[in-house]
Amino acid sequence: MIRRIWNLIVRTVASHIPPSPLKSRLYGWSGLRVGKHVHISPGVYIADGYRLGLVTLEDYSVVAPNVVLVPSSHPNTSFVAEIWDVSKRAPIRVGKGSWIGAGAVILPGVTIGTGAIIGANAVVTRDVPPFAIMAGIPARIRGDVRTKPLKSQEALERWKKIVGAEFDAPPIQAETE
Ligand SMILES: CC(C)(COP(=O)(O)OP(=O)(O)OC[C@H]1O[C@@H](n2cnc3c(N)ncnc32)[C@H](O)[C@@H]1OP(=O)(O)O)[C@@H](O)C(=O)NCCC(=O)NCCS
Repeated sequence: MIRRIWNLIVRTVASHIPPSPLKSRLYGWSGLRVGKHVHISPGVYIADGYRLGLVTLEDYSVVAPNVVLVPSSHPNTSFVAEIWDVSKRAPIRVGKGSWIGAGAVILPGVTIGTGAIIGANAVVTRDVPPFAIMAGIPARIRGDVRTKPLKSQEALERWKKIVGAEFDAPPIQAETE
């Protein structure tokens, strides 16, 4: 309990400072697992009840403004909670170099793969394959980041060495509605 109160205080401070290494570090001290060079934007809300380790933000991942990460979902004071089992709690993992667009909601248990992109305002209900572009409500696969115009072959080769085999994951086909 004391640890959760500490997490609440540190997270409140973290949420009030601009994106910076300090902000990311404070989030890491507030119960999240935060890797290197993670960018956390203003207005991000994490519904983990200030518990330890329910959210992992891997190296170089980016969380845009007003994203809501929901690893722990419970209707609080609603009588519904007393009658039916509607609560869910499962960790969320945001993979290396992935980018969550503004206002997206990530639901319990979701893993976002390496280098994936989540569109603005998406509601992500299931896992996102590496390098998928997922958008909409519920989020569907719209494409593969690796089909976008190449900006730098040198950067591609460098990051392949850093990130590893996931760059060679099979191509992702868009889903129809
Ligand atoms: C999802 C996203 C990455 C797609 O970019 P893109 O590959 O260039 O896609 P396009 O703009 O060419 O759009 C492709 C299709 O997806 C749709 N689409 C794009 N973004 C969408 C979104 N967020 N939700 C639902 N549909 C979306 C487009 O309407 C288009 O549909 P159509 O083919 O029926 O016309 C981008 O639109 C997005 O949402 N980026 C996040 C931006 C953001 O939040 N930035 C925060 C600042 S850090």
